[in-house]
Amino acid sequence: MSPTLQQSHGPQFTRIYALGAARGELVVGNDELIEAIDSSDEWIRKRTGIIERRRAPKEVTAVDLATIAGAEAITKAGISPDQIGAVIVATISNPVVTPSISTLVAENLGAGTAAAYDIEAACAGYAYGIAQADSLIRTGVAEYVLVIGAEKLSDFVDPTDRSISFLLGDGAGAAVVGPSDFAGISKSILGSDGSKWGTIKMSGTAVGMRDGENAWPTLSQEGQTVYRWAVWEMAKVAQQALDEAGITAADLTAFIPHQANMRIVDEFAKVLKLPESVLIGRDIATTGNTSAASIPLATHRLLEEHPEASGGFSLQIGFGAGLVFGAQVIVLP
Ligand SMILES: CC(C)(COP(=O)(O)OP(=O)(O)OC[C@H]1O[C@@H](n2cnc3c(N)ncnc32)[C@H](O)[C@@H]1OP(=O)(O)O)[C@@H](O)C(=O)NCCC(=O)NCCS
Repeated sequence: MSPTLQQSHGPQFTRIYALGAARGELVVGNDELIEAIDSSDEWIRKRTGIIERRRAPKEVTAVDLATIAGAEAITKAGISPDQIGAVIVATISNPVVTPSISTLVAENLGAGTAAAYDIEAACAGYAYGIAQADSLIRTGVAEYVLVIGAEKLSDFVDPTDRSISFLLGDGAGAAVVGPSDFAGISKSILGSDGSKWGTIKMSGTAVGMRDGENAWPTLSQEGQTVYRWAVWEMAKVAQQALDEAGITAADLTAFIPHQANMRIVDEFAKVLKLPESVLIGRDIATTGNTSAASIPLATHRLLEEHPEASGGFSLQIGFGAGLVFGAQVIVLP
């Protein structure tokens, strides 16, 4: 008789235990960038809500930022690094194709032989990472998972590009996810629309650079197309996440969308009919758009400014290049 295959199960519920944050130490104001793009401080503030963004100096890498954020999350979670079964780093700005950032971050943090891998889901990367952490724990593969969004986007900025250069910042945000007595992460809504693949893109490839076909690849976007997609389609995804969580906008303590543009954040709040009482992540004003790091950074700041929000529901939604999206409701640590 052939043996029955064993399939593992973990705990029924998961939650985020704690967060960590690292922002680039350089404060870059609008005035420093406007000349190269024939813009103005007023235009950038009005169209994006950005007053300044944080960037890292030349010698600081996404690995350094991820390590700082990860260490804070682990300490605050009150666990030992060797209890971490997986380290997932969401990033689009690792200049090294292989090996991954995550194995080095795991090593830096003392996470032993934890599973370690990077995911590339652009500005939705953190939401994808939380979904994976939830699955790895509930299937019994890992007890605790460290999810980090880490970006050094300034390395992929063309200062003369008017479409995106002034939006981008550097930073890392981390979350420790683990077993829970109560439901702390709702069903994740993950998806993509590859028909709009090129609307946020790199200007070339490393191979193209080698062959003299393009310069150092940098980011650019079709801003209006992405803006419309974000406001119309992503508001629907956010609503779907609420429905799947079995709650309404009125039950939320916080709403923390990807920090792409303050106008998009405000439009979301209107379309979702968020009550005045819901706290809204607005970290973009002083951090800029840090892609995969933006949601955990905004959440970290919101909890610092409003510690009373701890224990409440937060709707988070990431969306970006690909185009990809991911959303879920979490209980704030
Ligand atoms: C990029 C973005 C800020 C541009 O704002 P916008 O209001 O859409 O700007 P438009 O492209 O419609 O241009 C409006 C005007 O501003 C001008 N303009 C465009 N970029 C400019 C800049 N950087 N500085 C100054 N003026 C600019 C245009 O030339 C145009 O001028 P005109 O009216 O005289 O023709 C906005 O489209 C956006 O945030 N898009 C979504 C970004 C996003 O979510 N990305 C997700 C991935 S991270």
